[in-house]
Amino acid sequence: MGRITLALSLIACLAPLAFSWPYGEQPVRGVNLGGWLVLEKWMTPNVFSGLPDNINDEYKLTQYLGYSEAEQRLRSHWDTWVTEADIIQFKNAGLNHVRIPLGYWAFDIKSGEPWVSGSWDYAVKAAGWCRTHGLQVMMDLHGAPGSQNGNDHSGQSGSIGFYYNDENLSRSVNVVRQIARWANASEWRNTVSIIQTLNEPILWDDYDYRLGRLKDYYGMAYDAVRAENDLAVVAVHDAFIDLTNWYYFRDDPHYWWVMLDTHLYQVFGDEYQDLTCEQHEAIACRYRDRLGEANNKLWTVVGEWSLATPRGCNNQGNLARQQIGVYESASGWFFWSHNNGQNWAEWSMKHSLNNGWIRPSENNVAYC
Ligand SMILES: *[C@@H]1O[C@H](CO)[C@@H](O)[C@H](O)[C@H]1NC(C)=O
Ligand SMILES: *[C@@H]1O[C@H](CO)[C@@H](O)[C@H](O)[C@H]1NC(C)=O
Repeated sequence: MGRITLALSLIACLAPLAFSWPYGEQPVRGVNLGGWLVLEKWMTPNVFSGLPDNINDEYKLTQYLGYSEAEQRLRSHWDTWVTEADIIQFKNAGLNHVRIPLGYWAFDIKSGEPWVSGSWDYAVKAAGWCRTHGLQVMMDLHGAPGSQNGNDHSGQSGSIGFYYNDENLSRSVNVVRQIARWANASEWRNTVSIIQTLNEPILWDDYDYRLGRLKDYYGMAYDAVRAENDLAVVAVHDAFIDLTNWYYFRDDPHYWWVMLDTHLYQVFGDEYQDLTCEQHEAIACRYRDRLGEANNKLWTVVGEWSLATPRGCNNQGNLARQQIGVYESASGWFFWSHNNGQNWAEWSMKHSLNNGWIRPSENNVAYC
């Protein structure tokens, strides 16, 4: 064996030992802690009880109630919507990852912004439960200043301002940097193994400009993570465009350990409105080649999916098995979400486990 070959095979042998989790070899089986540190009214309507209909996101809630009343409501929600018992249930069911959506305001509130601070402590608390019980954590910047998608789940619904102001981008980079620095400490390094730079950026109205800005942001956020953390995987969301757009994260040697995140719901959009359950199951198969091809480039995970369909399916177990089988043919999945405040079981991991629909530790095979 030549010296170079020897050196290469040593690297090939040693590199995986550095991972906190063998991505690409063992599937991610995960769950989102949704509607927690970034409110979503449809998921936890009780947090909005008694408020006018137009108070429909966290920004408006805090603005409307004023700081101390908003803080009271949020803290009682933060204290109860995710518990250690939930984490233990997920571990025992065979899950191995938890994704924690965060708003930028967990780190950075400017004067004049109504956000309530304190949510970061809860993220740390949940990460601690995951560490205790042996689950990996993905920290996910879900809400950026100005909003990257105009949806309530960015914290502020309405206009999409993120891309149009350098300060919005640099504040977000700083948040990601702080998460990465925190996660590099020895007590977290092996638990917090993925940092996601931004959730669901939307490009459509102003596609070329926003895509350019998003790529700039992804580059800066990647560098910020790497300046602080040599172990975490950096996850990028596909922005709902063709996955091939992101292959440069593999082809450009500047980048390493990048994960591609795509979200595959079958409930939003006209094409899903009138399908039978069997057709929904078949749709999962249609994703298989595209996920497989992407996964040959970058670890590719389905960071959000659910069992919700417009007409409802009465064989949720088949629909789950089919999706899980396809997603595990790539690098795995995170279900949305851990629970649902309206008891919509198709959106709730707890219900789906209790009902036997999702069986993470069984061999989930897709029939395609
Ligand atoms: C983000 O940028 C937009 C567009 O310039 C601006 O209107 C908005 O105030 C910024 N948001 C924050 C939170 O700074
Ligand atoms: C992260 O932590 C490791 C292990 O303690 C250390 O070697 C490294 O210098 C730290 N910083 C970066 C940027 O990785």
